[in-house]
Amino acid sequence: MKLLLTTLCACLLAASFGSKLPSTFKKCNLKQTSSRLCLPTAIESAIKQMDHPIKNLGLVRLEPLLIPSLIIDAGSQYVGTKQIFKNLKLSGFNETSCSKADFNYNEKTLNLDCVVPNFRMDFNYELRGQVMTMSIYGNGTGWLNFHDNQFGLTFKFGEYEKDGQTYFNIVHQQLKMQAKDIDFDLQNLFDGDEKSAAQVKRLIKENVLEIFDDVKPGYEEAFGKIFAYIFETILEKVPVFDIFG
Ligand SMILES: *[C@@H]1O[C@H](CO)[C@@H](O)[C@H](O)[C@H]1NC(C)=O
Ligand SMILES: *[C@@H]1O[C@H](CO)[C@@H](O)[C@H](O)[C@H]1NC(C)=O
Repeated sequence: MKLLLTTLCACLLAASFGSKLPSTFKKCNLKQTSSRLCLPTAIESAIKQMDHPIKNLGLVRLEPLLIPSLIIDAGSQYVGTKQIFKNLKLSGFNETSCSKADFNYNEKTLNLDCVVPNFRMDFNYELRGQVMTMSIYGNGTGWLNFHDNQFGLTFKFGEYEKDGQTYFNIVHQQLKMQAKDIDFDLQNLFDGDEKSAAQVKRLIKENVLEIFDDVKPGYEEAFGKIFAYIFETILEKVPVFDIFG
């Protein structure tokens, strides 16, 4: 898994320590048990407000989220090709709903369960290798749409002091993804040979969840890093008690 975060970080230079969250971000007191009720909606609402860049935090927009380049390794069973994506656009986050957001103050962990009804990837792709029994190659545009995609995210935090304030950083993250169904299209497979393209697309459609499971760890690692990176952009500038209250 190789990931270029350079353009994601380009605007970080402008932002600095001791920044404030937008006042429209809802705060939850983590030391009160009511945070279990407060946090899911606070997080949902923050995600929805990230449909534009937040300059004083150096935050890029999340809707859509642009990633210049991403390479996912081949799987171990069905997918015998690495997946090269360029000009990747992730969208659908503005319809996120979170059913769980548990913060454990003693262990400094945050567990999130959120569903994105239509998590979509639009991209340029390059593929060359095998899918199940068939060979595949292509270079063109495409998209993937994950229906009712569950994101289970766990963050483990470290804590440090700066200028008398407490800040968190992320020391570990884990993402699990589970979709109910996946639609996709890949244009220009086999240099435009429609017959071969239709065959391999049918094979993939009939087995799409099994095929995706084979390469899912690569996607989970990549997107987990991206989400952690974005969250850390906030954490490194805003003292933790100004984030959560
Ligand atoms: C979510 O964002 C997309 C653009 O990525 C937009 O077309 C859509 O209307 C937005 N949906 C909501 C509920 O804001
Ligand atoms: C895929 O197409 C792009 C744009 O036409 C080109 O720059 C790139 O070199 C191609 N990649 C391969 C592996 O042929």
